[in-house]
Amino acid sequence: MGSAGTTVYVAMASDIIHAGHINILNAAAALGEVTVGLLTDEAIATYKRLPVLDFATRRATLESFRQVTRVVPQTTLSYAENLRRLRPDYVVHGDDWRVGVQSQARAEVIAILAEWGGKLVETPYMRVGTGSELDQALRPLINTPELRRAKLRRLLRLKPWVRAIEASNGLSALIVENASVAEGPTVREFDAMWVSSLCDSTFKGKPDIELIDLTSRLTTISEIMEVTTKPVILDADTGGLAEHFVYHVRTLERIGVSAVIVEDKAGLKHNSLLGTSAHQVMADADEFAEKINAGKKAQVGRDFMIIARIESLIAGRGQDDAMRRARRYLDAGADGIMIHSKERSGDDVHAFLVAFRAEFPETPVALVPTTYNQYTEAELHDWGATIIIHANHLLRSAYPAMRQTALDILRAGRSLEVDDRIMSIDEVLELIPNN
Ligand code: SPV
Ligand code: MG
Repeated sequence: MGSAGTTVYVAMASDIIHAGHINILNAAAALGEVTVGLLTDEAIATYKRLPVLDFATRRATLESFRQVTRVVPQTTLSYAENLRRLRPDYVVHGDDWRVGVQSQARAEVIAILAEWGGKLVETPYMRVGTGSELDQALRPLINTPELRRAKLRRLLRLKPWVRAIEASNGLSALIVENASVAEGPTVREFDAMWVSSLCDSTFKGKPDIELIDLTSRLTTISEIMEVTTKPVILDADTGGLAEHFVYHVRTLERIGVSAVIVEDKAGLKHNSLLGTSAHQVMADADEFAEKINAGKKAQVGRDFMIIARIESLIAGRGQDDAMRRARRYLDAGADGIMIHSKERSGDDVHAFLVAFRAEFPETPVALVPTTYNQYTEAELHDWGATIIIHANHLLRSAYPAMRQTALDILRAGRSLEVDDRIMSIDEVLELIPNN
């Protein structure tokens, strides 16, 4: 072990411990007494998939290592706070962080250590299949229906809001799974997938009137789940008859769907964005509450969520009706609500949320800001939203591109003219692993 009185700091996420971690801990222990700054679940949630093991389990594992003297929480990706508090002589890290998103964190560590003459020691990066390779190898382990189902509740606990976007087939779900943009020293990604009734129907060339039956919807969901790991929120229209809904809840729960959102409409369902230009019939609030209640009683475990979607603003019934229904559905056991509107200003949703949050500060609230998309997610979260769903944007971007290509091939009598704005076949073949 290292020299007496010398202190060493190592930050880790350490979900599944592998040889790379041990290598770093050995190098650290050779220098002195090792404190591990263990990233909290909240800190990890800001930049990558949730850890399989929670903080307490990860901490206990590391504490059992002879190389480790103590484990302290590191609550942000930045080392700054812990370093200034502990003032270690050394920080040890693999040398892989010199480039890429972590290089900013590295520069910060070097600058802070210089305040008291501390040093950064970098160990040669060990290619043991860390990061995304390990994620791939572990996928069967981390992608069980149980773990996936529980992810939505975990995300709601760990993040200010859950960011969801439509996924309508395996390929669009892969975009949702992998899309990632840099955000300072960390990255921004989607947290969850919305399986939209509008998009699922439209991709099949059918109207959004509850025509696509659950068997077909389940095929879409399975296709999505087979190639991804993020939690799925299902738009289940009205949920059908209460007597059928209880069976649907069990099926969805069993396959690993995290939440179902059901809307309080009756009769032939029309898409909400048609507003009052369609014949929007609202369900009787008590009957709908009973359906929710029957669903909650039918689910087997604790993680599955049933979210009650309130259509009062869509049907022109106003905020008081929406609040009455919210109380009634939450009383019946709903795990959260969605409030929908097609107003462009967003004022009605904002006013509702002010009233709702005064009574229910903690309840999950989903918004689908299709018409009032001048507001950012952060602004909608300030209003009180905790699940924000971009409900149809992949379909709406794919269709114009496909249509334009079809028209251009028709005009030219060949496909050469579209080559420069479509993917090459090589790119298509590289898109999916193991092609
Ligand atoms: C969907 O995506 O199918 C929805 C949201 O239910 S909306 O189309 O706005 O009604
Ligand atoms: Mg829908």
